Amino acid sequence: CYLTKLTFMPWFSSLVYTVGHGLKWGLALNGSRVGWNQTQHCKLLEGLVPDQLQLCRRNLELMPSIVQAAQETKSVCQKTFSDMRWNCSSIRLAPAFGPDLSKGTRESAFVYALAAATVSHSIAQACASGELPICSCGSFPAEVPGPDFKWGGCGDNLRYGLQMGSAFADGSMKSSRSGTQATRLMHLHNSAVGRQVLMDSLETKCKCHGMSGSCSVKTCWKGLLDVGEIAADLKAKYLAATKVTHRYVGTRKQLVPRELDIRPVQETELVYLVSSPDYCTKNPQLGSLGTQDRQCNKTSVSSDSCNLMCCGRGYNAYTEIVVERCHCKYHWCCYVTCKKCERTVERYVCK
Ligand SMILES: *[C@@H]1O[C@H](CO)[C@@H](O)[C@H](O)[C@H]1NC(C)=O
Ligand SMILES: *[C@@H]1O[C@H](CO)[C@@H](O)[C@H](O)[C@H]1NC(C)=O
Ligand SMILES: *[C@@H]1O[C@H](CO)[C@@H](O)[C@H](O)[C@H]1NC(C)=O
Ligand SMILES: *[C@@H]1O[C@H](CO)[C@@H](O)[C@H](O)[C@H]1NC(C)=O
Repeated sequence: CYLTKLTFMPWFSSLVYTVGHGLKWGLALNGSRVGWNQTQHCKLLEGLVPDQLQLCRRNLELMPSIVQAAQETKSVCQKTFSDMRWNCSSIRLAPAFGPDLSKGTRESAFVYALAAATVSHSIAQACASGELPICSCGSFPAEVPGPDFKWGGCGDNLRYGLQMGSAFADGSMKSSRSGTQATRLMHLHNSAVGRQVLMDSLETKCKCHGMSGSCSVKTCWKGLLDVGEIAADLKAKYLAATKVTHRYVGTRKQLVPRELDIRPVQETELVYLVSSPDYCTKNPQLGSLGTQDRQCNKTSVSSDSCNLMCCGRGYNAYTEIVVERCHCKYHWCCYVTCKKCERTVERYVCK
């Protein structure tokens, strides 16, 4: 049976649930190999709380989108943070996350927000592409179309994506198994921020018809931006994230900013409870891999500069010979031939 070939690891982080889990199974089970046509497949996803298990059983056809979202979250997170000291590499450890992601850190705030946005994004687009029998194109926008276009085509079904995405992402956060109340509130808040960024990314996309691209007739629909662009937005929010504390406001315990400015947490900001290390040196207890041997950029002035990336420790330079295709020539018809050229590049890695 092909299912037995799947390698799945036991969880040892009991703190990260739901989308955390969504993330974990997606990475642990090779989604493309599971048929998702039997409810027992849901049992493969260890650590689901009963609500989630039921959601899985009742929405088997959504599982490929959810697994794909998990994989996309991983690759987009790593790409978005490739120029930072913390480079999202510990997401590789799934299903067992390191302390950088299993505590209420700024980094976990980003990953939860991104995962929540990605799950809804994936479902919304699967609806529009006709992969899901249960949903189809988004409904036409209520706003009146402009003078030069009409609504048409097939828009991403954001409404359904948000509905099912949040059921999955937030479902188990109700369970007391998923960490302290403060961490649960934090994850719920950050997931909602992720979905808000997703909603804001809905834009009008159009296609021209008419004689040879004259664009005399235009149909437009609402489509979502790429997950990469959503991640870039969330990265800015990560950099500006607010440290919060869990305390009584009136009769109810809430997350409120730690700083003296007395204001409620805003729907647009990511929040975290635990300060992160600077990720300069290796410290497994803190989930820091350190930046030794990371590549840095000598001419950059931002986070990937040798000064910032190497935390002032300095860097080693070495030269590398890269082989590239060059002097490419097009031959009629239809192929291209290229020569191989060697180029020497200077590289810098942190001490
Ligand atoms: C996962 O699936 C991909 C694509 O189907 C395949 O290339 C890869 O070998 C699979 N990995 C494992 C560990 O089964
Ligand atoms: C599920 O899918 C597999 C492979 O596609 C097939 O062999 C099996 O019969 C299906 N099971 C059910 C219950 O549809
Ligand atoms: C991220 O950083 C770690 C530790 O420095 C390094 O081993 C890894 O290759 C980096 N990953 C990427 C994708 O740059
Ligand atoms: C280094 O940074 C500069 C300035 O930001 C940029 O133009 C260049 O492409 C970067 N080089 C590499 C190898 O990333």
